[in-house]
Amino acid sequence: MKREAVSYGARAKQMKAPPGPRGLEVFGFLGGGNAGRTVNFLERSARRFGPISSFRILTKRIYLVDDPDLIEEILVKRQHSFVRDTGAVLLRELIGDGLLTREEPEHRERRRILQPAFHRDQIASYADSMTREAERTASDWQPGAVIDLAAEMRRLTLAIVGECLFGADFRGSAKGIAAVIQRVGKRSQWLVPGFAFLEPLVLAYRRAFPRGPSLFFRSERAELERIVTPIIERRRQSQTRDVISLLMAQRDETGGQLSDEDIRNEIVTFVLAGHETTATALTWTWYLLAQHPEIERKMHAEIGAIIGDRAATFDDIPRLRYTSAVFAEAMRLYPPALLFGRRPKETITLGGYTIRRGATIFLSPYITQRNERFFERPTAFEPERWEAGSPPKFAYFPFGGGAKMCIGEPFARMEGVLVLAALARHWRLALSNEKAVGVGSGMILRPDRPILMRLEPRQAAASMPQPANAAASL
Ligand code: HEM
Repeated sequence: MKREAVSYGARAKQMKAPPGPRGLEVFGFLGGGNAGRTVNFLERSARRFGPISSFRILTKRIYLVDDPDLIEEILVKRQHSFVRDTGAVLLRELIGDGLLTREEPEHRERRRILQPAFHRDQIASYADSMTREAERTASDWQPGAVIDLAAEMRRLTLAIVGECLFGADFRGSAKGIAAVIQRVGKRSQWLVPGFAFLEPLVLAYRRAFPRGPSLFFRSERAELERIVTPIIERRRQSQTRDVISLLMAQRDETGGQLSDEDIRNEIVTFVLAGHETTATALTWTWYLLAQHPEIERKMHAEIGAIIGDRAATFDDIPRLRYTSAVFAEAMRLYPPALLFGRRPKETITLGGYTIRRGATIFLSPYITQRNERFFERPTAFEPERWEAGSPPKFAYFPFGGGAKMCIGEPFARMEGVLVLAALARHWRLALSNEKAVGVGSGMILRPDRPILMRLEPRQAAASMPQPANAAASL
């Protein structure tokens, strides 16, 4: 993994805006309602203008930071100078005030309550449920069937989150939740690029009516509440430290400081943040594997040698090194959280430039993780690069960083490896799309069309010819 030093020097950049696209070009940011095009526009800007670039749309100045040191400054070293950006304001209209949308000091307090659900020993206790759900999916699949991969991965990761974090069976709700996500995705497609301009109105509304109905997702929010409310009502008398038990215990201890609505918001947060992201990461992983038979064979060999014909366990994970590298490398090329933002609370200096209070600063794992300054052959799928060591800090940050870093990171990493191992033990997934798959729209880096996979039982797969999948490309 490589790293080039960036010299910021003490050049007289102060007060001058960083370089970036100008004139009509900047409207490329709006992407015609397509987040994929917005990201392409940002990627081109980063490559042309370097570690920190900026442009202005109407009254709004937007910055893009594509440099590990500056990313670390924002997410970790000077994190208290920033708050979440526009995306969180829009998300709050769907999920309410939860861990993913709160600011300090409430965020810190909520994180303290929930953190035990993600401690190492607790995470270890989720492994068997993860493997069990994945093995169940493997046994439901039929040889020769063609599956919609993303839909299958969503169903599986939803079942896993339900079982591990809430002791609930979400399999019957998968269709309802998928429909909500699809509707939210479609509406966000138009809302996201121009949302910075709507935002002051949304914030004013929320200040006036903190518990007022959702502005953009009223029926979707109602549907999610209908799905999660029974979980609270069927409260488990469990001694475990899963998310629902921690929230319930806190409510009891504090005499109701945590309202039913607070608990509902957290459950909705974890259901949504905890399944769609991992499902997307797994979808791209299978997609890449199907295009790289050599890598696929190597992963199968490792799984065969370490697990053989039994189900994978927590103790196998450190030995599934290549499988872990496959998952990490897929998240380098296709990080589910492709872009997120921060905004300075006060006017600050960053990389020698003055950035005014309230400006939008975008950080993009998708853009930085494909930067040739940090990765050789940046668009190539090469799990082997992980054998040479970890990439520079914050050149790879699919889970963010600092106090607001993904709380589910250890959960997701373990789940990725266990699901790959359980499914690959039985099946080979052969790409059967005729057209190339690209990056779609929305707040999560989904494919722009269904990825169709033909299921081949592993024993038979070994003697089958390689699939013709030249249509697919990175
Ligand atoms: C591959 C899978 C995942 C990816 C790529 C991912 C990515 C991220 C990123 C980038 C953030 C930080 C956003 C920011 O700083 O503004 C985040 C936050 C969060 N994630 Fe994940 N996530 C994944 C899986 C999960 C899982 C499995 C869960 C729950 C079980 C989860 C729950 C959360 C929550 C609650 C937050 C907010 C944390 C806080 O602000 O304290 N995520 N995630």
